Amino acid sequence: MYLFINKKRVLAHIKNRGIFGFFLYLLSIVKKTFYIFYLTFNIRKLNKNYTADSLIDYVYTKNEGLIKPIQIRSEILKLIKIIKNKKPKTVIEIGTAQGGTLFLISKAIPEDSLIVSIDLPGGSFGYGYPKIKMRLYKSFSRPKQKLHLIRADSHKLNTLNKVKKILNNRTVDLLFIDGDHTYDGVKKDFEMYSPLVNNTGIIGFHDIVISKKRSNVGVNDFWIEIKKNYEYEEIVENWKQLRCGIGILKRKKT
Ligand SMILES: C[S@@+](CC[C@H](N)C(=O)[O-])C[C@H]1O[C@@H](n2cnc3c(N)ncnc32)[C@H](O)[C@@H]1O
Repeated sequence: MYLFINKKRVLAHIKNRGIFGFFLYLLSIVKKTFYIFYLTFNIRKLNKNYTADSLIDYVYTKNEGLIKPIQIRSEILKLIKIIKNKKPKTVIEIGTAQGGTLFLISKAIPEDSLIVSIDLPGGSFGYGYPKIKMRLYKSFSRPKQKLHLIRADSHKLNTLNKVKKILNNRTVDLLFIDGDHTYDGVKKDFEMYSPLVNNTGIIGFHDIVISKKRSNVGVNDFWIEIKKNYEYEEIVENWKQLRCGIGILKRKKT
């Protein structure tokens, strides 16, 4: 199945690396597929007394990096600690990717919470995810938790309507924007989804540190603009790192 999904990649491998390269590619697909199934059946057996630190250890050091967050470890650890304290019951994440932050957030929020995670079926910024991973991502939820995956462009009105239908008049306690990282993209996600967030809710942004190497990343520009209107917190390991960094908008200034 994976082969058909990635037909173009298979042909590119044969062309670029010859038959041996293709064989290695096949092996890596088999290994990945095996791990997806293995993890899906084992993730529920996780020790329930996890802490933010043990969750971070789990995603960064286990499972061949299959659900590793695309984040700086110390930064995401701090965010997960904040989320654990705040206990948001309704969460929207834009940018599922490998499921790293989805896994961490779903374990950090209360049992009876609802989480919606959005990503493209095969995304820009290199990630997105294939259908085969949906079962794995669904297995992150705890027994009373409701986890919804939407494989669509967050900027489409249809996607927003799907989210609203799932929320069924609930307001959002945590919105985590980590999808399209262009200035226009992040701004659009904010404009479309922030009205769903309640007065005590928080809005997180990933990649607030200026990124000179990646000229299409404009989160920093939008962050500088928007943070003026809010009480906010910045989680940045080092402002010279030229990537990552998490910004959290808290209460709106009056
Ligand atoms: C940096 S990754 C997210 C990382 C993830 N939150 C983590 O750390 O585990 C960004 C993701 O946003 C997705 N994306 C980009 N543009 C999008 C859009 N318009 N709608 C939905 N998802 C989008 C990409 O496909 C990619 O998977």
